[in-house]
Amino acid sequence: MESWRKGWAIWAVLGVSGCVAATARGPAPTQGVSAEAIAAVEEEAAPPPVQATPQAEHLIQAEVGHSAVADQAVLAHLPAGDAQWQALCGRGHDDVVSERLCKSRGVRSLAELQAALGIGFVSKIGNGDFGNPAFAFLSHSTSLTGRSVSPINPRVFVFTDPSTRGPIAGPPKPTEDFVALGFARGEPLVELVARDRTTNELRFFLVRFELGCEREQGGCSSWDLFGPSVEGGWVGLSVYDDADLENTVFDCNVCHQPNGPSTRKLLRMSQQRFPWTHFFRDKDQGKELVDEYFLAHDKREAYGGVPGQLVSWSEPARLEGLVEHEGFIEQPGELPTKALVQRIVAGKPLAGEPTYAAFFAAAQAGRGVTMPFPDARFVEKERYKLASATYRKTLAGTLDVEAFPSIAELHSDEARWRTGRRPAPDADGKGIVVQMCARCHNGSLDPSLSRARFDATALDTMDEAELALAIERMKLPSGSPLKMPPERFGELTEEEIAKAEAALLVQ
Ligand code: HEC
Ligand code: HEC
Repeated sequence: MESWRKGWAIWAVLGVSGCVAATARGPAPTQGVSAEAIAAVEEEAAPPPVQATPQAEHLIQAEVGHSAVADQAVLAHLPAGDAQWQALCGRGHDDVVSERLCKSRGVRSLAELQAALGIGFVSKIGNGDFGNPAFAFLSHSTSLTGRSVSPINPRVFVFTDPSTRGPIAGPPKPTEDFVALGFARGEPLVELVARDRTTNELRFFLVRFELGCEREQGGCSSWDLFGPSVEGGWVGLSVYDDADLENTVFDCNVCHQPNGPSTRKLLRMSQQRFPWTHFFRDKDQGKELVDEYFLAHDKREAYGGVPGQLVSWSEPARLEGLVEHEGFIEQPGELPTKALVQRIVAGKPLAGEPTYAAFFAAAQAGRGVTMPFPDARFVEKERYKLASATYRKTLAGTLDVEAFPSIAELHSDEARWRTGRRPAPDADGKGIVVQMCARCHNGSLDPSLSRARFDATALDTMDEAELALAIERMKLPSGSPLKMPPERFGELTEEEIAKAEAALLVQ
């Protein structure tokens, strides 16, 4: 058993609570990005180098210095800046995000955005207290930005403190004018949600901020996107509501309105209950995640606008409180967090946990939402450790920022197929199509959307032209914003595309 797994089993035996001493950690391995990076990391790393898997090496090399993912080009087709501002603010939306952002055109940093939305940090201490908003850090996500989320590049939620933490007792007490913000570094995007007072519906927003490096020749480096500077120095801002984004890769409704048009929009939390598997906390595995975060990051470094010294104050129970008070106790797919820990104690494979297995099977069959990985550890270890050590060195100024690799997609192979980023290893051609396409192409879409023309759950009803188009879209080169599945959400090898093509051709 590996050492981290041992450490976790120990606290799990202790009942998933109480204090547990931090497990010992070895120095980072030394397989490398650039000669300089290797040399710098080797200074600290005594044990023999661990060979990164060929795939990990490939990923590191391929992504060094790359900027945003290709689908940012999709947003370039939408109106931007002033035109978008006028369009959005002219809609008369009766929600607090529209109201406040329409008065705040000059926002130039994440902290300013939070302040404008009334969820800015004002005190050096307090989560939801002393004037601070509530916040929680998540180390693994199946959301829009999930590809780049890991313990060293977490997704942070900053939100209006709910009336109580979860689990809530008694009837829900919603907070009028609540705002929730989601952010992970790696992309120039911030996600928001608020409730419209007139319709009582949730409204989701995507903020696309522009960085100075985008205008300069060569674009942004990975450090520009994953380092602290992504949170400030913005030179422009475009805000889209969920209606603007419908039928794009950024469509919020795919996951926040999973049952289709005219059904209720949802706040989501896939690790909603104690012990919240992937959330940072001051106890148990959540504390280990915080410790890992600080192997890469500095206590003086704000992340997601949250002051560095507050990161360990992350409280998923507050996000649970918000989600439950707003009326979303029932989730379309939720990790059975407690039962999973019991299986760690019993030494049983987590994927066999019956509730998880049922949700996972439904997701694979295109009938449910994508499930997070059942184990808190989902990263490809060598690559992750290297990313962590490299981050720390670069932050300390001992590595060239240009050598900093992209730290997106640190998922292990198994985590990739379990979270729908890849088909399962045993999938046949039809299985590949259902697993990789059905979540966005199914029978419950608004029929006026062009993507409703391709239904991965009813291939026998598709005409030849549509099937041919599906094949064509899968075969587009990597980097094309039209490639299917969109690279943000999934990838197929040439062999898998060939299998999927064969399955489509026999329809
Ligand atoms: C691929 C699925 C997916 C898409 C697409 C998606 N989200 Fe989410 N979102 C989630 C999940 C799952 C969560 C719960 C936290 C997590 O797992 O990251 C979440 C959480 C959130 C939250 C925190 C409040 C809450 O519901 O818990 C906000 C804000 C949010 N999303 C905004 C957006 C916006 C805005 C868009 C569209 C631009 C969007 N999301 C698109 C899956 C998605
Ligand atoms: C994350 C959501 C998502 C996934 C997953 C996805 N698509 Fe799409 N697809 C879209 C969106 C959004 C559009 C509409 C915009 C466009 O045409 O690019 C679209 C459009 C299409 C179209 C054009 C439909 C038409 O008639 O105009 C085809 C064909 C298609 N996708 C095939 C696929 C196939 C095949 C897969 C799986 C291998 C897949 N898609 C996976 C989101 C997705």
